[in-house]
Amino acid sequence: MLGCAIYNSGEISDNMAVIIDGKQLSAQVVQEVAVETRAFVEEFGFQPGLAVVLVGEDPASQVYVRNKVKRATEAGLHSIEYKLPVHTDQVTLNALVDKLNNDPKVHGVLVQLPLPKQLNEEDIIAVINPEKDVDGFHPINVGRLSSGQGMLIPCTPLGCLMMLERVLGNLSGKNAVVIGRSNIVGKPMAALLLKANCTVTIVHSRTQNIEAICSGADIVVAAAGQPQMVKSSWIKPGATVIDVGINAVECDGKRKLVGDVDYTDVEPVAGAITPVPGGVGPMTIACLMKNTLIAARAQMNK
Ligand code: GUN
Repeated sequence: MLGCAIYNSGEISDNMAVIIDGKQLSAQVVQEVAVETRAFVEEFGFQPGLAVVLVGEDPASQVYVRNKVKRATEAGLHSIEYKLPVHTDQVTLNALVDKLNNDPKVHGVLVQLPLPKQLNEEDIIAVINPEKDVDGFHPINVGRLSSGQGMLIPCTPLGCLMMLERVLGNLSGKNAVVIGRSNIVGKPMAALLLKANCTVTIVHSRTQNIEAICSGADIVVAAAGQPQMVKSSWIKPGATVIDVGINAVECDGKRKLVGDVDYTDVEPVAGAITPVPGGVGPMTIACLMKNTLIAARAQMNK
């Protein structure tokens, strides 16, 4: 990263692209949650609880779940991990979620996605109590977010928004393009940017002239799942680029992780950019901790 500025604690060290340090910002968020968790424990006499459910042995999901549980401990939360075999059926998984919905020690329930193919993701998300839905995926929370009243907001878009606000301050009036229309990232990201008074465009696999649309944007959030798809010609000089992609690719016989943005190509043009790894990923987990605390407080204040 020679010649690049590192963004940390609000200081920009030279006039090259700011590298948005998701690791550092996420550590700060987790520390803030830890402070608030201590206050929660003093007030109520127990820790907020997060249950994480993993079905099967998908290696990437195993890593994500391990990191979520580790961060939860750092944030002072009580975390419980449930590992179910790959052939688990819908009735068994629903029964576990139902049990967690009714457990007063559990304030947040997360079922790691993707699920094995015999399980229906939409059905299981709908079974999670919306008050404990720390992913913000339940239709009730999706509706709340789209009407601008969201409380439990999907963690990845929330982390992206926090990074954008860190770098740009007020987002009002900015032109933002979201690449990708998934329920987990693209759609909630667009809703959040709209709530922040951006002018928002979603582009996707069927959009014509994506490059031309992106090149007019002040903010580009790439969440298409296509390795290194976004090139420098897509980016307006000085724009802020948030890369949600995490793609494993082979490079010189070695496996490495790349984003949806061609980082080496785009970084000299961008005003600020997130690296992969070390950008959006750690922020997603930090926002999960934040949501668990928010959910716990809301349940105790009912
Ligand atoms: N798989 C990839 N990202 C996520 C996420 O944010 N939540 C859940 N539950 N599964 C995921």
